[in-house]
Amino acid sequence: MALLKIAKLGNPILRQIAKAVDLNELVDPESELQTFIDDMIETMHHEGGVGLAAPQVNQSIQIVVLEYAENKRYPGEISIPLTVLINPVLSDYSKETKEGWESCLSLVDFRGLVPRSTTITLNAYDRNGRKIQKTVSGFEAVVLQHEIDHLQGYVFIDRMKDFTKLSYQEEFEKFWVKKEETPS
Ligand code: NI
Repeated sequence: MALLKIAKLGNPILRQIAKAVDLNELVDPESELQTFIDDMIETMHHEGGVGLAAPQVNQSIQIVVLEYAENKRYPGEISIPLTVLINPVLSDYSKETKEGWESCLSLVDFRGLVPRSTTITLNAYDRNGRKIQKTVSGFEAVVLQHEIDHLQGYVFIDRMKDFTKLSYQEEFEKFWVKKEETPS
């Protein structure tokens, strides 16, 4: 396994539409693609991210990994088990939206207040090529919308409605997080 280099905002790969994965490439557990998925997971853990999309590690293909268990950047959110999504598609975006402060390993010093649908439907495959279909809400729905946006060439600031709520992490902690919620 290996740590992968993170593409930061300004790298054109973050603005490309990622290619669909050929599911046949998932069959061999020793394949390059399966190793790449392991590397994505290792990199997400190493960087302390809640999710990572393949374009963020310089591969313009439709793979997303996510996991959340006690992350200082998002205190108090409900856990998300380790999930690998191949060719994920979201639909049935709820009209109801909720704003939350997001950050991104590709815009690592920034936080922004982003409105997201509270409920969505996910269609995807897992790393064994098995079909996944589920309706998701809460924090997991936010993470999925953020990560799957990366596969379409969007980053969270594109979804912001009010740029007065774009902040450096340092100032976010000073001015926008209540004292008791400040990550420590
Ligand atoms: Ni991101």
